[in-house]
Amino acid sequence: MSRIDTALTRLLDIKTPVVCAPMAGASGGALAAQVTDGGAFGFLGAGYDTPDKLQEELSLARSVLRLQSVDRLPIGVGYLAWQLEQSPSRAFELIDIALENRVQAIWLAFGSDLSRWVRYIREYDSRPERNHKTLICVQVSSVQGALVAISDLKTDILVAQGNESGGHGYGSSPSLLTLLSSILADAPKDAPPILAAGGLSDGSQLASLLVLGAAGVVLGTRFLLTPESLYTDAQKRALVAAKSTSTVRTMAFDRVRGTLGWPSGVDGRALYNNTVRDMDSGTDISVVKEQFVEGVRSGDADRMLVWAGTGVGLMSEIKGAKDIVRELHHATIQYLNAASRFVVNKQHEG
Ligand SMILES: Cc1cc2nc3c(=O)[nH]c(=O)nc-3n(C[C@H](O)[C@H](O)[C@H](O)COP(=O)(O)O)c2cc1C
Repeated sequence: MSRIDTALTRLLDIKTPVVCAPMAGASGGALAAQVTDGGAFGFLGAGYDTPDKLQEELSLARSVLRLQSVDRLPIGVGYLAWQLEQSPSRAFELIDIALENRVQAIWLAFGSDLSRWVRYIREYDSRPERNHKTLICVQVSSVQGALVAISDLKTDILVAQGNESGGHGYGSSPSLLTLLSSILADAPKDAPPILAAGGLSDGSQLASLLVLGAAGVVLGTRFLLTPESLYTDAQKRALVAAKSTSTVRTMAFDRVRGTLGWPSGVDGRALYNNTVRDMDSGTDISVVKEQFVEGVRSGDADRMLVWAGTGVGLMSEIKGAKDIVRELHHATIQYLNAASRFVVNKQHEG
């Protein structure tokens, strides 16, 4: 497979400018490794993991990629910074696990101060006996956030997360096209690779975002519809059945699950169902919670939680992560070639 040459594919030494988002509770070592093995780059979501669970997922990735424990691990680990902030000693333990495994990248998002973790990672890598640089990837939803990540945090990769995104994000975030164009317009010339995230599913979108100036894209929801994702069969079926209008930004599921503590302004995009309806209409939370727990147990799409971006309506099949990467790769090249037809031929000008 030839390389689609962008600043991202050069930096990560990959062929396809696609990143599988870290997805807490959904992207583990198997998914991340298959995405990387397919020629793109996979993150596992460490979100609510214990140190043991994180090590287990990293070992799984290592075995999928047939790597020894001494080898560097060409996947990334994504942390929810607000979770790290809850217990710094546990946070350092969790970050150490990724660093000791020599993962290629660490992703940070959703915290009040990411600099503390960035500094820790940089200092760890600067130890004389260490011969490895961990790339830092920061996800943002505003131009202001992007400029801080580039200038203050000196992030190696920047992800622009638009409003269409599945899972958590800032409700105030503009649509991806507006956000990406605004960030590209204001970013310094020597900015790191900038990736586009939110509502994406296919090669035509990837090609158009590359033309716009992105160095690659981040897909979350698309990779939930794979045998390798940690989503249940019931959740995957709900995603297959969903339409582009099926999602909503809400805090209903976080309130019901008790996963509160997100930075202000963050909510999550998920499939709308009766849990959201009942929370919005003021039904007693203990009643909604009871039905939610039962719905999760029985796989009831009317009650359970399924995070999803607006692109879900374009996804109709569950297929292997590697096949998704392969299809994206070929379709992107096709669309880029087709786009070259529009290049103005000087001879026919004026
Ligand atoms: C199930 C799920 C879990 C997610 N978990 C995380 C996470 O742990 N950390 C994070 O920074 N972003 C997380 N996100 C957001 C992704 O980083 C990314 O912005 C989003 O998936 C892109 O939109 P898309 O899902 O429409 O492709 C999650 C998204 C989904 C769908």
